[in-house]
Order: sequence, then structure tokens, then C-alpha cells
Amino acid sequence: MTYIPITDLLTGKRAGEAIHLRGWVARKRSSKKIAFLTIRDSTGRIQVSVNKENNPEAYAIADSIGYESALYITGLLAEDSRAPGGFEIKASEIKIVGKAEKFPISKDQSQELLLDIRHLALRSQRLTSMLKIRSSVFEAIHNYFRKNDYTEVQPPIFTTAGSEGGSTLFEVEYFDKTVFLSQSWQLYAENFIYSVEKAYTIAPSFRAEKSKSARHVTEFWHAEVEATWMNFEELLQLMENLISAICKNVAKKNKADLKALGKNPKDLLKIKAPFPRISYNKALELLKEHGMDVPYGKDLGATEERAIGKYFDKPVLITHYPREIMAFYKRVDPTNPKVCLNANLIAPEIGEIIDGSERESDMDKILESLKLEGLDPEEYDFYLDTRRYGSVPHSGFGMGIARVVMWICGFDTIKDAIAFPRTMTRVKP
Ligand code: 4AD
Ligand code: MG
Repeated sequence: MTYIPITDLLTGKRAGEAIHLRGWVARKRSSKKIAFLTIRDSTGRIQVSVNKENNPEAYAIADSIGYESALYITGLLAEDSRAPGGFEIKASEIKIVGKAEKFPISKDQSQELLLDIRHLALRSQRLTSMLKIRSSVFEAIHNYFRKNDYTEVQPPIFTTAGSEGGSTLFEVEYFDKTVFLSQSWQLYAENFIYSVEKAYTIAPSFRAEKSKSARHVTEFWHAEVEATWMNFEELLQLMENLISAICKNVAKKNKADLKALGKNPKDLLKIKAPFPRISYNKALELLKEHGMDVPYGKDLGATEERAIGKYFDKPVLITHYPREIMAFYKRVDPTNPKVCLNANLIAPEIGEIIDGSERESDMDKILESLKLEGLDPEEYDFYLDTRRYGSVPHSGFGMGIARVVMWICGFDTIKDAIAFPRTMTRVKP
């Protein structure tokens, strides 16, 4: 038996044919004469009608079956302008594959309750579309780096030193030691490149974030890249080109998913390199003009970043942040030692989605910065070997994939961009 995906049925090419369909009951209603089911599969939704007089057995099933029951359906595909999608199946036979108990999701449930039953909420159209878009984002990242001769490498997850500050390190008992879950591949990336030169990874990163912000989770998939000889300008272009490639791929592969989320695929195609660029200083000026007084030396938070994002119709690069708020590995600008050669890519309505920099290749400057951050150089000994043995200029960045998905989908919380989000208060299911 050949079962036809719903998306193919909705093209209408098989109108007038008898077809077989399988899927789950997403909606239902019935009158005394006719029952309507909306059946969903991974590709879409279609209306099924069952006439009681002609098909009493099928009607009895349709009339009594619960939401999310799995069915095989045989019927005639007919054009019908009243049906959502323009087609319906006039069912002649319905077989129950898996009967559902009373499904615990109904309309108007709170976000928290839906997160408690996230494993079931994943069946919603919204989250199914998100998962498909997310898959295309991963695909685009792999394709982009592989096409440009990057080697995919795998950093460890158990680590002995942090690269992004001690306050968000997760401690793990590791036999008789305490180690940390990786915050970023950073310390390993800068070693990998002395072997493969152009390296990238997509790996989980962990942050003990206590913040309840809409864009922080404790576990996220991190796309990170590092390359020898790459200068700051080339780094900025890499950020722009990767984001453009991701948007293009999603616009091409996920038209129906974007539409289901109220997004226009054409808008994504407009996200093309180059992006506007402003310095941290300029960002402070812009903020001040609009009544937000941020003192020099304070990092920009979500509110400030979103305010900046509003001035532009594309993502914007903010560059040259004050050295004192930058991690030790970022290169100090040789023309202005107060700032670093770093950039954050800010997506409209979300804020930072990428963080990167040229790296400091001078051992003494790194030692100085480690001390400024109050870190023990001995803990970073294996990392410092990158500067001891043939140090070269290099650059890299990290991109939070869930933030990119959140932005593309137009979600107001990062949790919706992750199948099973982890936060300070949630690790189940
Ligand atoms: O800005 P971050 O902390 O930078 C780094 O980890 C660098 N070592 C990256 C590099 O240069 N290889 O994190 C990078 C990105 C952020 O821009 C953000 O998109 C995402 O990771 N991110 C988070 N996403 C979700 N939840 C969190 N708690 C996140 N923390 C960072
Ligand atoms: Mg950052």
C-alpha cells in the first residue's frame, strides 16, 4: 500500500483519485450526518470527511475517536474550496492504528504547562515547523563550511578551565576531581587550527545561567569556527556570509514552515551580505540619542542590543568593544589599545547571535589579560602552548544556533527554538 504525504495531496495533482493516507487526528467535529477530521502528518494537514449514510463504520470511528489517535484512511481526494488547503478526502474506510487516551493538550494552556508536556507539545504545527527550520539551519552551516574547505572537528565536553568566565561554569564530579562542562570549544579551537588550519564544529555548550531572560538557556548547540591567518575584516565577512547562506537555505527549503509561522520566505532572502557595521562607541551614541544612557565600559545587554537592532533592516555588526569587558583571548586593537578587534552580530528583535574576534597571538598580552580577569595562567598551560610554538594570527566566532532559529521563526522566547529546553528551573522532560 502506498501512503501519500499530505503535502503531495494538497498539490491537487491526484484530485479525483482514490488514495491512502496515514496520520494523526489533529482536530475533529461532527454533525448527525457527517464527521470531519483534520489529519496531520509531518508534512501538513488535510481535512477528511465521512458521510454516515454511505460509510457508517468509518463514521462511527471518526465520530468517537480521540485527538492524536493514529489512523489509516482510504478515500477519494476531492477539490473543495471550503476545506482549509482547498482539498479534502472523502473517506470510505478508516482503520485505527493506535488509539489515543484523552490528549492532555487543549486550547489556551499556559506556556509552563506546555513545557511540562513538551514531548507531546512537539507535535504542534508551530514546533514541527521549528524543528524543520532548525534542521535546515544545521544543514546550511555544515554545507557552508564544508564548501569553503573547513574541517569539522569535535572538542571535548568535560573540560578543566573555562573560557567565558567562571560564573557560568557547570561543575561535574569527575571521579576524584571537579571538572566543568564546556562553555565553548575556544581553548581547543585555537589548538585544532595548528593542525587543520580551518576548523569548525557544531557542539553543545553549557552555561550555568541564572538569568530568566528570553534568550538564555543552560544548554545550547553552538556553531563555532576558528581559522589561521584570518584577519578581522575576513572574520566579519565570514559572519555575514554564513548568516546569508543560512537564510537562503531556509527560504528555499522551508517555505510552508515559514508560512505556518506567519513569516514570508522572501523577507529572508533580503538578509544578504554586507551588513551594516558600527563601533561600540557609535552604538553608545545612538543609544544616547534615544534616551538610553549607557556608561562607557558597560557591556550591552538585550535591551540595548534590541534598541540598536531597530535602526537597521538587517542584522548589524557592533565592533571594537572596550578591552576590559572582553575575554583574554581577544586581540587588542593595535591602533587603539583601549578596544579589541571583536564583533557581535545583532539580529533585530533578538540581540546578539554571534560573538567573535581576531585572537591575540602575543603570549605576553594574553598573560596580562588572564591576570586582569583574575585567572590562573597555570590552568591555561595547554592553551598557552598555541602561543609558544609557532603562534600565528587567527580569528574565530561562536554562533548560538537556537538564537538564530528564534530570530528566523520570529519567536519571543529561545525555549520555542529548542525541542527540550533546559533552564535553571527546568531539566525535564
Ligand atoms: O558570546 P559567547 O559566550 O562567546 C563564546 O563562547 C566564544 N568563545 C565564541 C567563539 O568565539 N568561538 O557565546 C557565543 C554565542 C552567543 O553569541 C550566543 O548566540 C550564544 O553563543 N549563547 C547562548 N545561547 C543560548 N543560551 C545561552 N546561555 C548562551 N550563551 C551564549
Ligand atoms: Mg558574547
